[in-house]
Amino acid sequence: MTELNTTDMIGTSIKGRLYGLGIGPGDPELLTLKAHRILTSVPVIAYPTMENGKVLARAIVADFIRPHQIEVPMPLPFSVERSSQPYYDIGAETIAQHLAAGRDVAVLCEGEPMLYGSFMYIFNRLAGRFDTEVIPGISSTFASAAMLGAPLTYRNDVLSIMPATLDESTLHDRLIGVDAAVIIKLGRHFAKVRRVLETLGLFSRALYIERATMPNQRIRPIAEVDPAEVPYWALILIPSQTRPQ
Ligand SMILES: C[S@@+](CC[C@H](N)C(=O)[O-])C[C@H]1O[C@@H](n2cnc3c(N)ncnc32)[C@H](O)[C@@H]1O
Repeated sequence: MTELNTTDMIGTSIKGRLYGLGIGPGDPELLTLKAHRILTSVPVIAYPTMENGKVLARAIVADFIRPHQIEVPMPLPFSVERSSQPYYDIGAETIAQHLAAGRDVAVLCEGEPMLYGSFMYIFNRLAGRFDTEVIPGISSTFASAAMLGAPLTYRNDVLSIMPATLDESTLHDRLIGVDAAVIIKLGRHFAKVRRVLETLGLFSRALYIERATMPNQRIRPIAEVDPAEVPYWALILIPSQTRPQ
């Protein structure tokens, strides 16, 4: 047990290892074997929680967490108007204390950790101080293409991934001439994105999905989506127009 083993034979302090664990888009069966092995063997598991109480990452892997494992919830502000920096500072410091005491820590990250992942903020604070390993996960982008049955890119197609939080004119500029695109962080930005897609003639190609691979996944014709009901865990996918045989 690493907890008892914090110094080696010559008295050097042995630090724990930091893992950034990609846990996939929602279906626990989409966890990789490697993520599962690390998740079930580390003494400490950390994960972001929203101020509104939503804890998606933990919920995805809840069945695999053992009672003896130490849990470190990291509260993040729900409102984008409030800076997340101080929250990540506090979370990183708590994790650093476990690592310094010789305990390995797995930080859960929904989807792929290095793609708009919350883990990157912990990585930027701690990877220089502690041995760190990032375990890739299945991104919601790719899981959604699978769930929608929508081939994303062929041959020379270019895929663009962008957040709906961009302002309207930037979104417009970024979507001009796209071969294929994925627009994430939808929530209250849906109406703005819809206007841009209509202006650019992309609306008829756009596909909408909520909570891909989760038990409450919803796929709806985009024209029927009520902007007031779009959750944060939703995205729009514009698949390639190419249809090679
Ligand atoms: C901060 S980004 C994190 C992306 C994540 N690292 C990934 O690789 O999927 C959060 C956004 O990803 C999208 N997202 C994540 N999981 C999703 C899911 N299961 N279904 C649909 N969209 C999802 C939503 O657009 C959400 O607003």
